Amino acid sequence: MTPVMGSGGMCGPPSEVRRVLLVGFMGSGKTRVGQALARRLGWSFRDFDQEVRARAGLPIPDIFRQHGEAAFRDMEERVGADLLLEDRVVLASGGGWPAALGRMEELPEGTLSVWLRVLPEEAVRRAREEGPTRPLLAVPDPVARARQILAEREACYGKAHLALDSMEAGPEELARIIERFVNERRAEGVEPSSP
Ligand code: S3P
Repeated sequence: MTPVMGSGGMCGPPSEVRRVLLVGFMGSGKTRVGQALARRLGWSFRDFDQEVRARAGLPIPDIFRQHGEAAFRDMEERVGADLLLEDRVVLASGGGWPAALGRMEELPEGTLSVWLRVLPEEAVRRAREEGPTRPLLAVPDPVARARQILAEREACYGKAHLALDSMEAGPEELARIIERFVNERRAEGVEPSSP
């Protein structure tokens, strides 16, 4: 599979990649692909949702329930800003992170963004397998809801430098494709920004 270049009218991929940011809908495989890619590159892996959970001391559904979605989005914004400062790191954003105004246009220099595409039906199937972890899909008709949210976000995801179909290949294969792309543009000698 060849990655498709993003069509969002941004400048092209960085000439020296310092970090990879995976974006895409819930269930698109950002965490699994990110872990596999980080292993291959010898970089660290950081997941926005895991970091929000750790900082809040609460699982995501509880944050939504107790504090509301707006509070979750504020935490997610702060986590994203912090993690995007790190070098030699693969980042899995939450599915809603790229949807805020300007996010995909204002990525720090050296960030390669990759959209993992998934259809709403498959996203819901995968999310079901993982249990009740996605409050936005905890509705009577999750597929209709997923279609609606995805339609609202597609233009934002499409601003990524690369797009890969997560239903055409498994996490290792997707990671291998991204790794090849990164290795052609990898920033050498960049030290991790934190221990
Ligand atoms: C969300 C996606 C989730 C999590 C939260 C909201 C979204 O992350 O951040 O439930 O708005 O799409 P994943 O994409 O990792 O499931």
